[in-house]
Amino acid sequence: MGYSIAIDGPAGAGKSTIARLTAEELGMIYIDTGAMYRAVAYYFVKNGLCAEDEEAARKACKNINIDVTYENGAQQIILNGENITSGLRNEEIGKMASGVAKIGCIREKLVDIQRKLAKKADVIMDGRDIGTRVLPDADIKIYLTAGVAVRAKRRYDELTAKNISCDIKEIEKDIEKRDYEDMHRAISPLKRADDALLIDTSDMSICQVVDKLKTIYGERKNG
Ligand code: DC
Repeated sequence: MGYSIAIDGPAGAGKSTIARLTAEELGMIYIDTGAMYRAVAYYFVKNGLCAEDEEAARKACKNINIDVTYENGAQQIILNGENITSGLRNEEIGKMASGVAKIGCIREKLVDIQRKLAKKADVIMDGRDIGTRVLPDADIKIYLTAGVAVRAKRRYDELTAKNISCDIKEIEKDIEKRDYEDMHRAISPLKRADDALLIDTSDMSICQVVDKLKTIYGERKNG
C-alpha cells in the first residue's frame, strides 16, 4: 500500500482542482473517482438506460469494463476499450452519475478498481466515500466543503467563461439536489469520516487550500 490522501466533499467544493494540484506538487498520482461514476453514466446515456431499472443495472455491471490510464500525468478513462475522458464533464452525465452512484454492484466494481490503484502508488484520491469506504486507513483524510452559494457562483463562472449561458439560481438548485442525493443514498452516502479534517474553502483561494494540504502532509510525514 502506498501513501494515501483521501479527499471527500460535495460537488463544487474544489476537490478535483485542489487534489490534482496538490498531487502534482507532492509527486503523487491523482485519482478522480467521480470520473469513474461518470463513465458508467456515459454508458447508461449512450445505451438509453435508466439508473432506476435494476435489471439494466445488473446487465450493465457485467458489460462495463473500465480502465484507468495516465497521459502526461492526466487521468484517462477507458470504457470498453474507448477513451471517453473528454465526454464526461457535462451536466447530462453529471446528473446520470448521481443516479448510477446509488447502484450497489456499480459501487462494488468501482471501489475494487480504486483500491487496486491505491495499492500501486502514492495517491491523492477524491470522491464521496474515499475516507469512509474506499480507503478507511488513508494516511490523511480531508473533508472539503464550501457554502452552496459559493459553489454555485464558482460553477457559474466556469460555465460563463466557456460562453455557456446559465442561470445561477438553477445551478444552486441543481447543487442542492445533488448534495441531497449524495448524502441520503442507502449505500456509502457522502459524509465526513470521523477522523477527517474539515476544510471550508468558501473564503479560501485554490493556492491557500493547496498550501494547507501541503502543510498537513509535511506535519504528518514528520510525525
Ligand atoms: O465528483 P463528480 O461530480 O465527478 O461525481 C459524479 C457523481 O458520482 C456524484 O453525483 C457523486 C458520485 N460519486 C460517488 O458517489 N462516489 C465517489 N467516490 C465519487 C463520485
